[in-house]
Amino acid sequence: MSRIAGLRDRLGIAYGGDYNPEQWPDEVHEEDLRLMKEAGVSLVSVGIFSWASVEPRPGEYDFGWLDRVMDRLAGGGVAACLATMTASPPPWLTTRHPEMITVRADGSAISPGGRQHYCPSSPVYRSHAVRLAERIATRYADHPALAIWHVNNEYGNVIPCHCDVSAAAFRRWLADRYGSVEGLNDAWSTRFWAQGYSAFEEVLPPRSPAPFANPAHALDYARFTSDELLACYLAEKEVLTRVTPDVPVTTNFPPSLRPVDQWAWAPHVDVIGYDAYPDPLDADAVPKVAFSYDVMRSLRGGQPWLLMEQAPGAVNWRRRNAAKPRGAMRLWSWQAVAHGADAVMFFQWRQSRGGAEKFHSAMVPHGGPSTRIFGEVRELGRELAASRFLAGARAPRADVAMVLDWPSWWALEGQARPSAEVRFLDAAWSCHRPLYDAGVACDVVRPDADLSGYRLVVVPNLYLTSEEAGRGLTRYVEEGGTLVMSFFSGIVDPYDRVHLGGYPAPFRRMLGLAVEEFHPLAEDASVGLSLGSGTLWSEEVRLEGAEAVERFTTGALAGEPAVTRHRFGRGEAWYLATRPDPAAMRVLFDRVREAAGVGPVLPGLPDGVQARARETEEGRCYIVLNHGAAAVDVPLPTPMREELAGAGPAASVRLEPSGVAVLRPG
Ligand code: GLA
Ligand code: GLA
Repeated sequence: MSRIAGLRDRLGIAYGGDYNPEQWPDEVHEEDLRLMKEAGVSLVSVGIFSWASVEPRPGEYDFGWLDRVMDRLAGGGVAACLATMTASPPPWLTTRHPEMITVRADGSAISPGGRQHYCPSSPVYRSHAVRLAERIATRYADHPALAIWHVNNEYGNVIPCHCDVSAAAFRRWLADRYGSVEGLNDAWSTRFWAQGYSAFEEVLPPRSPAPFANPAHALDYARFTSDELLACYLAEKEVLTRVTPDVPVTTNFPPSLRPVDQWAWAPHVDVIGYDAYPDPLDADAVPKVAFSYDVMRSLRGGQPWLLMEQAPGAVNWRRRNAAKPRGAMRLWSWQAVAHGADAVMFFQWRQSRGGAEKFHSAMVPHGGPSTRIFGEVRELGRELAASRFLAGARAPRADVAMVLDWPSWWALEGQARPSAEVRFLDAAWSCHRPLYDAGVACDVVRPDADLSGYRLVVVPNLYLTSEEAGRGLTRYVEEGGTLVMSFFSGIVDPYDRVHLGGYPAPFRRMLGLAVEEFHPLAEDASVGLSLGSGTLWSEEVRLEGAEAVERFTTGALAGEPAVTRHRFGRGEAWYLATRPDPAAMRVLFDRVREAAGVGPVLPGLPDGVQARARETEEGRCYIVLNHGAAAVDVPLPTPMREELAGAGPAASVRLEPSGVAVLRPG
């Protein structure tokens, strides 16, 4: 905790971006520092892809340029989030050791020449990575610029490796997990299709089995991949904490959330880092990223996290890469702070001249400091520097928790399911959105979390459920909680074997129903409900104590239950047998949460206005964001001061389109 407190005291709300000085000559570095000061930059992530620049030939180091960069940063009062530089192994290493290059599931190897082309199980890669981390750690341990370590980069974006080295590591991982090959055969249901193994040596990575991979095999490979990447992270972290015990260590989780089990990683990441790239062309980008931010805040129980990367304008890796509309950069940055971020960082500081990311926006664009983007960067830097009082402030615990489990996510999206269109993130977004639109805060929890403090627990598509998690959720309702569960939950155990006894066996008693058969809908089809329509999925539900709140009004299941409610113990469990359209979801969620006594962060928020709270030493502070296109007046429950404009206590605050208010008790 003290390592984090030190960081907060030093940086306030940290501001800056990825800094890649090796792409530029010395004169530019001088200008960099001048412009960083002008922009209020307090932290830069240095050298994330610098391996080949600090070790141009095997064992031959060139730290001179980096020494000068670090000295300059220290002289200018800019702190370094110093990278271990291990995300892109240099050509000399892959040429000498082609066996460390990632092999895709189809057997083809990734060609070096991009980045992140390493096999996480490769002892060669690991030893070189650890050696480099140690070099960097010892060289800069006492450097005044050093504030925090940035291990590797976006581990989750490494393509899962299927090479022979990975195969051997996978077998060891399986032997550890199952003890015996009989245990493996049982867990993987290998009597099916004559897959029984006589020894661990026979097991391969799920390269491209036809017609389908064994789903338990594929699921374990996803677990194994997450664990191997974590082992790479831990190997580097061990070096860093040994050499610099007082310097916090982070790594940046990539935007998609899915690839690694972040519950397993979070205890080892001193402060969570996240890269967010909401697509300006996606009308739902803002509510979607709000969910990601809720995940990040929740990973370490509400501890502030770092927005490690975002784009000041456009990215360059989508098919169409739109610039952010005027004001969006500021508004979306504040959105992260509203959701508990203690840093607003960008990819990258200075827009590259060459290379694959030269059309990715940057804080200093090709057009230089006279551009609109740099003007907005400077303005935001000023605001954040004036908002130090927010740093370290935690969000109050929400009344609502949403359950998220990575193995369940991976298993849900495996092959040969009732519908390949059922995807976890869509389910999570569809349940998060009605809360978001109603201005209600939401935490994210693991399925086996202690839920007793929450008034409402939302369970989207928890396809895979351990017996223990099933009991925990059931107990939560029994003891008076309100729970909403969406379809295709509680179907399989941690080995992707069906829980027998009627779907969803672990939750049947709690929900007061049984599901007889799945009826996924055709693409773009819907089925009638009295509230609107159901999409994606429908299923045949037999009531066993629950009441039907909604019934299907059209289709094969007309007249059958579509949404149910069951009083169970002292609580209440709701079940969605389809995905109601967004308007219907809003009506249902409003009903459920009002009955559960869950209200918005601030009452009376106009449509399109979002508010989140953080507990500062001087009391609860609200960050209010106008995502709408019109100016609005936001009523306040008690008079508050607005910090950004420096306005005295008032009973309401006016927000222009894309406007932001930071409110403190008057
Ligand atoms: C084919 C195969 C069966 C089974 C069915 C499933 O007919 O012969 O083993 O896989 O498909 O539809
Ligand atoms: C990721 C990476 C960065 C950069 C950005 C571009 O987040 O971590 O190195 O490539 O994407 O959007």
